Amino acid sequence: MAPPKILLLGPNGQVGWELRRALAPLGRVIALGREHDGLCGDLTHPGELAGSVRMLRPDIIVNAAAHTAVDKAESEPALAELLNARAPATLARLAAELGATLVHYSTDYVFDGSGEQPRDEGAATGPLSVYGRSKLAGEEAIQASGCRHLIFRTSWVYAARGGNFAKTMLRLAGEREQLRVIADQIGAPTGAELIADVTAHALRALAQRPELAGLYHLAADGQTSWHGYAEHVIAWARRHGQDLKVQTVEAIPTSAYPTPAQRPLNSRLDTTRLREAFGLHLPPWQSGVERMLTEFLGV
Ligand SMILES: NC(=O)c1ccc[n+]([C@@H]2O[C@H](COP(=O)([O-])OP(=O)(O)OC[C@H]3O[C@@H](n4cnc5c(N)ncnc54)[C@H](OP(=O)(O)O)[C@@H]3O)[C@@H](O)[C@H]2O)c1
Repeated sequence: MAPPKILLLGPNGQVGWELRRALAPLGRVIALGREHDGLCGDLTHPGELAGSVRMLRPDIIVNAAAHTAVDKAESEPALAELLNARAPATLARLAAELGATLVHYSTDYVFDGSGEQPRDEGAATGPLSVYGRSKLAGEEAIQASGCRHLIFRTSWVYAARGGNFAKTMLRLAGEREQLRVIADQIGAPTGAELIADVTAHALRALAQRPELAGLYHLAADGQTSWHGYAEHVIAWARRHGQDLKVQTVEAIPTSAYPTPAQRPLNSRLDTTRLREAFGLHLPPWQSGVERMLTEFLGV
């Protein structure tokens, strides 16, 4: 039997880059950026995108492309809607037409962030931002399409490649004596590496058990605030020989750091459904962050 053909959209983003590696043993991965050898992977061109998907006839479509600039989305809602809602709707229709499986990623920002309990997949949504609303509309379009799908809602994504919160904190900690970091948004930093590995694992399981298709919460175990995250990174770096100037990391409320987009205070995701369905253990958030720091600092 020929190996499955896997079309990967957004292959250069945080999650997309790790998916190139994680999906490789599953089949033939076609990594399609915005433009590539006459094919179109640009989510703002649905007609050309559909033409390329029909030409390639993938068995699996993995969509790691999105409008992820949460604050910028407030001033460009039409673009956020196009990338995060209408493009996934097109991909879902194509997946249904071709009998392909669609893998898609969503976010804890579909919730309003009230309360202090982790939310499961059945919890009521209530996005606070353009980004959150557009991502929720994308989920709903995929679910309504009838295509076989896996949607993973994740949170606070970082990757070893490119910039991230931890690297920014280390840079600032080397330059300043005092940092001020938000302490009332609570969630779990989740590595792109983990998201990609879980995706590959879930796709393998789905090939045997199609009833596993659906929506899942995927985040590293445990919880922290951005302030706790920053303190952990700084303490770990010091223990590993980094000479940092910072003396105090002040905990501030979200209200002291206004941004164009409102973010949920409670970003806790209940991952029970994912762990039980796929027999997975999700590591504590610290282990992925420390691995990323080891690579970044070369220690
Ligand atoms: N980042 C987070 O904290 C976070 C949290 C929760 C959920 N998520 C979700 O997780 C998924 C992956 O996020 P990520 O952090 O890996 O995102 P990312 O690093 O920002 O990557 C997004 C990718 O989308 C691509 N893209 C943007 N506009 C496009 C267009 N018009 N056509 C085709 N591709 C386009 C970008 O391509 P270029 O490389 O060409 O710019 C980039 O590769 C997304 O669905 C996101 O909503 C992310």
